[in-house]
Amino acid sequence: MMEPNLIPTLDPNPLPAPYWVFKLLLVVTFFLHIVAMNLLLGGAALALAAKWRSKNRVFVDVAKKLPVLLPATITLGVAPLLFVQVLYGQFFYASSIIVAWPWFLVLVALTVAYYGFYYVSFQNGQNSGKSGSVMLFSVVLIFLIGFVYSNNFTLSQTPARWGAKYFAHPAGWNLNLSEPTLVPRFLHFFTAAVAVGGLLLVLIAFARWKREPDYARQIFHFGGKAFMYATMAQFLLGIWFLAALPRDLRILFLGDSALATSLLVLGVGVAIAAILLMSEAIRRENVRLAAYYVSGIVGVVILTMSVMRDILRDAYLKPYFRPDQFVVKTQWSVFPLFLVLFVGGAILWLVMLKRYGLFAGKKAEQEAPVETPELTGAAR
Ligand code: HEM
Repeated sequence: MMEPNLIPTLDPNPLPAPYWVFKLLLVVTFFLHIVAMNLLLGGAALALAAKWRSKNRVFVDVAKKLPVLLPATITLGVAPLLFVQVLYGQFFYASSIIVAWPWFLVLVALTVAYYGFYYVSFQNGQNSGKSGSVMLFSVVLIFLIGFVYSNNFTLSQTPARWGAKYFAHPAGWNLNLSEPTLVPRFLHFFTAAVAVGGLLLVLIAFARWKREPDYARQIFHFGGKAFMYATMAQFLLGIWFLAALPRDLRILFLGDSALATSLLVLGVGVAIAAILLMSEAIRRENVRLAAYYVSGIVGVVILTMSVMRDILRDAYLKPYFRPDQFVVKTQWSVFPLFLVLFVGGAILWLVMLKRYGLFAGKKAEQEAPVETPELTGAAR
C-alpha cells in the first residue's frame, strides 16, 4: 500500500543551481566515492586472502595503503552525501531515521576500523597473527558499513515500506532485510570491490615491475586472477539483482528504456572485454596492458553502473519524486567559484596521489627492501 503522506514536503528553499548540475555532480562524486571504497574494501579483502595463502609481503604492502584509502573513501563520500540531501532529502532523511541506530553506528564502526587499519600498517609485518585478526575485524566492519548503506538507500527509494517499519520499531533499530534486491545488490557492490582490489594489486605490480620483477609478477598474477574471477561472478550476481527487481523496473533494462538498456549492454560488453584483456595480459605477462587498459575500461564500467543505479532510483521514486517541482534560483555569484574549486580540488587529488605514490611509487619502493619477500615485512 502506498503511504505518500509519510514523505516530508519538499524543502521550499530554491536549488542554488539547475537540477541537472546537482544530478551530474551526484553521479560523478558517487563514482569517485565508490572507486575509493572498492580500492579500500577490495584491497583489504585481498590482503587477507594473501595472508591466508602465506603471501605475507602482499599483506604488508596493501595494509600500508589502507589508512589513506579509508579517509579517501570518507571525504569522497561527503560530496555525494551533500548532493543526495539536496535532491532526495525527503526520502533519504526519512529512511535514515527509520534505520537510525545502524546508521549512527556506522560512525563507530568507521572509527574502530580506522584504528585497526592504522594498527596493522604500523606493525610492518610484525605480530603477524594479531595483525591478521585486527585486519579481519576491520574488514568485517567496513563490509557491514557498506551493508548498512545498501539498507538505507534501498529503503529510501521504497516509501511504501516506511510506515510498517517505523511503527514496528520506532526507536530506529531497523534494517531493510525484507527488500528482495538488498542481498544481490550489496553482493554486487562487494564483488566489484574485490575486482577493483585486484586492480590495486596490478597497479602495485606495475610500479614495482622493473625493480622487483619476481615479486611484481607474483602480485600481478594474484591480483589479475582475483579481478577476473570476481568480474565473472558479477554476471551471476547481476542476473540475480535484475531478477529481484520489480517487473516494471526490470524491463526498463530489458528494452523498455533505450538509455537503460544501452547502458546495461555497454556495461556488460565492456566488462567481458576487461576479463578477456586481463587474461591476455596475464598470459603475456604484460602488466602495462592490465594497468592502463583494463583499469581504464573498468572505470567505464563503474561509471556506466553508477548512471544505471541513478536511473533505477528515479524509476523507484517515480510515483513520489517530481524534479519539476524544484524551484531553481541559480546563485551566479558563487556557482562559478564552486566549479573552480571543484576542478581545483580534483586536480589537487591527482597531485596528492602522484606525490604519495599510492600504487607503490617511489616512496613505497624506497621503503621496501628487495630480497626475501617473506621476511621483508618483519625486516621493516
Ligand atoms: C568506508 C566505508 C564505506 C563503505 C564500505 C561505503 C559503501 C557504500 C556503498 C556500497 C554504497 C551503495 C549503496 C547502495 O546503493 O546500495 C554507498 C553509497 C553512498 N555512500 Fe558510502 N560507504 C562508506 C562510507 C561512506 C561515508 C563515510 C560517506 C559519507 C560521508 C558515504 C557516502 C555515501 C553516499 C552519499 C552514498 C549514496 C550516493 C547516492 O545515492 O548516489 N559513504 N557507499
